Amino acid sequence: MIIAIDGPAASGKSTAARSLAKRLGITFLDTGAMYRAVTLDVLRRDVDPTDAAACTAVAEAIEISFDVEGRILIGGAPGEPEVRSEAVNRRVSEVAAHSGVRRAMVAVQRRIGEQASAGASGDLRGVVAEGRDMTSVVFPDADLKVFLVASPRERARRRAEEEGHPERAAEYEADLARRDEYDSTREDSPLVEVEGALRLETDELTPEQVLQRLIEEVEALRG
Ligand code: DC
Repeated sequence: MIIAIDGPAASGKSTAARSLAKRLGITFLDTGAMYRAVTLDVLRRDVDPTDAAACTAVAEAIEISFDVEGRILIGGAPGEPEVRSEAVNRRVSEVAAHSGVRRAMVAVQRRIGEQASAGASGDLRGVVAEGRDMTSVVFPDADLKVFLVASPRERARRRAEEEGHPERAAEYEADLARRDEYDSTREDSPLVEVEGALRLETDELTPEQVLQRLIEEVEALRG
């Protein structure tokens, strides 16, 4: 089973996708972490994030995998917490906009999706993949497609709280707005809400309620 979840930055996708995968006992795929890993490598190598060819070369050479908890590994070493640093936040949208970078990452994502879904029948197998183009480009035939949204203010509040800086919510709101604008207007695979996706507005929902709603959808699918 392939479950594809898209939505803007800090809409609660990671929390929802991770907990859903855990509950179902299937693979969790955090594709934002992959673009963050490429960006981290670009910065470490002093590559210019606006240089499409150089960023593509980094994306083609990088060795990305995930540990059993779904946390990203770069060349086998933990990518957290550096992949969430402010330096990466500032440049990741630019790096992720290069078509060559996306081509390299999409190939890895589809391979992980195929590997996770293949195998013995009976047990539920598959992947919960979250990002910006899971429903539109990477897994357009997913069994379940979800578009998670929350207001800019609520997303900034959650992100600031997560980072332990509730007083910086206004600053986070500006950063998220900048990234949303970039991610939604880029030429290759912009964030879009596809027809047929379940739209979930999460301002008024707890993470547990979001999870519950998704489980109901999966149960309906499985009959
Ligand atoms: O979900 P996130 O904030 O970790 O994503 C980081 C950046 O990566 C985001 O600004 C857009 C990009 N991204 C993307 O272009 N396509 C994806 N499938 C996932 C993330």
